[in-house]
This record gives sequence, structure tokens and C-alpha cells, in this order.
Amino acid sequence: MPCSWLILVFAVLPSVASVAQAAIVEHTFRVSTPSLPRVCQPGNVTVTAVNGRVPGPEIEAREGDTLVVHVINDSPYNVTVHWHGVFQRGTPWADGPAMVTQCPIRLGHRYTYRFAVAGQEGTLWWHAHSSFMRSTVHGALVIRPRRGAGAGAGRYPFRTPDEEKTVLLGEWWNGDTVVLENQAFSTGKTMRNADAYTINGMPGDLYGCPEMTNNRIAKFEVSRDKTYLLRIINAALNTAFFFKVAGHTFTVVAADASYTEPYETDVIVIAPGQTVDALMAADASPGCYYMAISSYQSANPSLPFNGNTSTAVVEYLDAAPAPTSYPSSSPLFPTLPEPNDTFTAHQFYTSLTALVRLSRLAVPLAVDTRMFVTIGLGFSICQLTQTQCMSNQTVVVATMNNVSFTLPTTVSMLEAQYRDTPDGVYTRDFPDQPPVVFDYTSTSLPRALSSTGSPSTTKVKTLRYNATVEMVLQNTALIGRESHPMHLHGFNFFVLAQGFGNYDGGDAAGEEKFNLVNPQERNTIAVPTGGWAVIRFVADNPGMWAMHCHIDAHLRIGLGMVFEVESGPTPETALPPPPPHFPQC
Ligand code: C2O
Repeated sequence: MPCSWLILVFAVLPSVASVAQAAIVEHTFRVSTPSLPRVCQPGNVTVTAVNGRVPGPEIEAREGDTLVVHVINDSPYNVTVHWHGVFQRGTPWADGPAMVTQCPIRLGHRYTYRFAVAGQEGTLWWHAHSSFMRSTVHGALVIRPRRGAGAGAGRYPFRTPDEEKTVLLGEWWNGDTVVLENQAFSTGKTMRNADAYTINGMPGDLYGCPEMTNNRIAKFEVSRDKTYLLRIINAALNTAFFFKVAGHTFTVVAADASYTEPYETDVIVIAPGQTVDALMAADASPGCYYMAISSYQSANPSLPFNGNTSTAVVEYLDAAPAPTSYPSSSPLFPTLPEPNDTFTAHQFYTSLTALVRLSRLAVPLAVDTRMFVTIGLGFSICQLTQTQCMSNQTVVVATMNNVSFTLPTTVSMLEAQYRDTPDGVYTRDFPDQPPVVFDYTSTSLPRALSSTGSPSTTKVKTLRYNATVEMVLQNTALIGRESHPMHLHGFNFFVLAQGFGNYDGGDAAGEEKFNLVNPQERNTIAVPTGGWAVIRFVADNPGMWAMHCHIDAHLRIGLGMVFEVESGPTPETALPPPPPHFPQC
């Protein structure tokens, strides 16, 4: 008995001009405002999307390929596209964050992104990097091993899966998120919670509105005894997820497009911005099984949240089960962790270690630049741009080392760096330490401490070319504890250690706890709630590289900063000029 659901299957047709080794992978992204069905409400809603769909097209490439993506902006909004996790070596202008590396593509304009995906393999993704548009403007970017015959070419460093499936997790609003965000921000409030969580754009069948034709569920067809590589991406704006498939377990083999030591688990935890590649063997009795996601709520005190569970279905194609073994067609449902199950989240996040391979960069042992950076929320009075906010009203802001980040408005930071005209665009005084030392993770601090009072500014930390940077990311609990998924553009970093409470390392005893042998490499670290993480990276790519919380609600109110990496000594290591036809503000 096959399971019956209303199924929508996405067809992805990239055009790959194949040559012997590296190829050019070309796509056209038309950004427009189609009207798509609401979840559990009649009618449609107008959203911004690429090629009329959410999620947008999947890009498939091989290591070493060049991606050429023509973006045509037919939407009423300014747009940019960021290639989340791509190193952009030598192509800093293609990174995409609005006003950091480029002016946005204005309505009616077009721009072609051109960059190579070299020295990295695995699951990444692309998304809009202007306002809250990435809720609907996003898609997968899969980089498979290089073509050709050399050692390791074409092969994964794990058992070759029979098939691969992209599992894109998202959040859906029955509304235009750009409008919702602007309303919320200008009044000094945060945007309401998502109306639904989605798997490959579909909410599943637990939203209590089966009569509505828009109750859609994604389907993953499997054959018994085959192995599937699930490429799981968390594209949600604000929510971390627990992910399970009833009756099945996983072997995690990569995270953020970095191979890991195989890790067996029945639950995957994934913060906004992160990806996880996991093998799943179809070794259960043939039948139907729910794939399900629910939110991980790290905040304490807890905030109102959407407690829904979203579903997809894993359906065995081949062997029809004997009728007696499946009296009902309802699939088996997995037991998901409680929303505040920090133990399970921490267990997952800290169990991953890198797969040690010859080609892998060793952890740099000598550190040039040390930073201790507090991250979290605080109170302030409203900013000038919050036009609907009463002038002495208290609003929530987010800060790094007590600095609340705002984007420049006249020219991009990279252009100002390139022309050496930072005046009026950014300043080079992002602090290496918080202004005051306090009990960061205590929840019983006087409220006065949580007022930053400082207006939003555009500060960078300038790094010498090739500097090794060590950064302690220390969550604060001024308003509440929460896990912030911190994302670094342009580089992967090594995750040397993570823990709860105030970071007390830095001395010999503390450093003993660092994993300098096989630490996981990531582009997004979910810093433990009420805790800290230590990361290290080598700034070997000149340009402007944003680092920010991948919870959009926090980025919007200032949880970010930018690294300005200086040119190296040779022509090849100098900041290149902007490409032709670069968007102007
Ligand atoms: Cu995926 Cu700056 O973001």
C-alpha cells in the first residue's frame, strides 16, 4: 500500500557545460514576486522568490568549477545573493552581503556573479543577503568531488551513497517578510514568529488543515537496502531544528561542507546557516516513515515560539509490505526532543570532529590576533531609523563587544576599502575586548548593565594578510540566554572548544581543553546558550568579510561585525578590482 499524500516534486535543471576537468556551471536567477499558497489559510500570498519557486533552484557543481549566475531583478526590492560558505578566494566582490561587498541589484537591473568553488566540497547554499528576503530567496549549492582521474577525484571519503537527497529546512510566513520586518523594526519590535516550518518548501500534514489543498508534504522515495546521502540545510531565518526520521538512524559525514569523522546518531541538530550531510540506510521494514523537524529553543527565559512539528515522508518504493504488517497507512512517527533540550543539542554539536585527510589544513598553532568578543542582546533607546518608535522608548538591540552594527548607506565597505576611502563609511576600531568585564552569563545582573546606550556604528577589525585569528565568542545573558549561530563569511574556522558559563581559559590550563588535532571546521557555530566557543582561522583572503548571527532578527538589530583583511605582498594576494558592470548604489 503506497502512502497517499498530495505530492509536489521539484525538478532541477541546471545547465552544465562539461569540459574534461573544471566546468562552467551557468544559471539564470529571475527574482520576482510570485503569489504562492498560504499555509492553513485560504488564498495566496505574494513573496519574493527566484524563478517563481521556494526553495529556488539547486546549483550542482564539482570542486574546481566556475559558477556563473545571472541575477535578473524583476522584484520591487533591492536584492543581492550570497553564496553561503563559499571561500571566494580572489573574488571578494562576489560574496554578496548588501553594503558589505556590494551595492544591491536595483529593481529592473541585472548582475552576473562569477566565482570558482575551489578547495571545498559538500553542501552549501545560496540566499538573498538584503533585508529579510532570504526567508523565500534561497536554495542549495552542492559541490561534489572534482572530475578526473587523480587520487581521490570523483570520490567521497566515505561509502558512496546510492542516491543523494537535498533536505532544505525553512520558515514560512503568510505574508511578505520584507514588509513584516520593516514594520517590526520601525516600531522597535521584533517580527512575529513564522507561521510554519517547512521541508523543501512544504509544511507537511500536521498543521491541522487537511481539507485545504495547500496542505503539502515533501516525499522522499527510497528503495530497501540502499544508502542515501541527505544534504540537510537550515535556511530558516530565526530557528534551530531537531531533525529525525522514524525507524532510521544517520551517520553524519560532513557539516558546513567540511568532512567529519563518521558520527552515528538518531537525531540531527542544525542551527540557521548550518548544513549537515548524513548517510541514511533504508534498512527498515518497507513502509512509510515520517521525517520530522521541531524547533530547538535555546532561550532562557523562554520566548514565545512556534511549537509546530513539520513533516515529510520517507516512502519505500519496492517491496509492498504484507497487508498484515501495516494495518494502517499512517507512517511511524519519530520521538522528537523537548524544545528546550539543550543537552541533546550540545551533545550533537560537540560530538563532531574533522575527518583527518592528507589534503586538510592543519590547525595553526601560533596566534597573531586574539579577540574576546561578547555577543548578545541588550536594551537601548530607539535608533533614528526606527521612525515609528517613541523617542525615549526602550528597544532591544544586539551587540558584539557592546557595539551594535549597522550597514553604511552610500557605498559598500569593500569599495571603500579598495579605494582607501573609509571616511564616512566605516571605522577601524572594532574592539578586541568588551568595554567592561562582568559576569557575562549571570541572569541576575542589574538591568542598567544591559543598556548599551551606544548608537549603531559600522566598525571593522582590520587584519593583516595571513594573520591567524583566535576568537572567543562569549554569549551574554543580559536579557536572556540564547544560542547564537555565528557565521563567518569567506573562511572556515576551526572550533577548538565550547562550553557553558564564562570562558575562563587563555591560560595554559584552559588551552589544554582545545582540540588542536581534529577540530570540526565550520562556517557557522551555534555558540552554546549561556556559554562560549573558541574558534581560529587564517585571514588569507583580502576583502571585507562579515561575521554575524545567522538569526536574521538579531542581525537586523546589530549582531554583526566585519573583518577587513588587507592585501598580501604580491600581485596575486592583492585585493582585486571590482568586476565589470558592478552594481552601483
Ligand atoms: Cu548565510 Cu551573511 O550569511
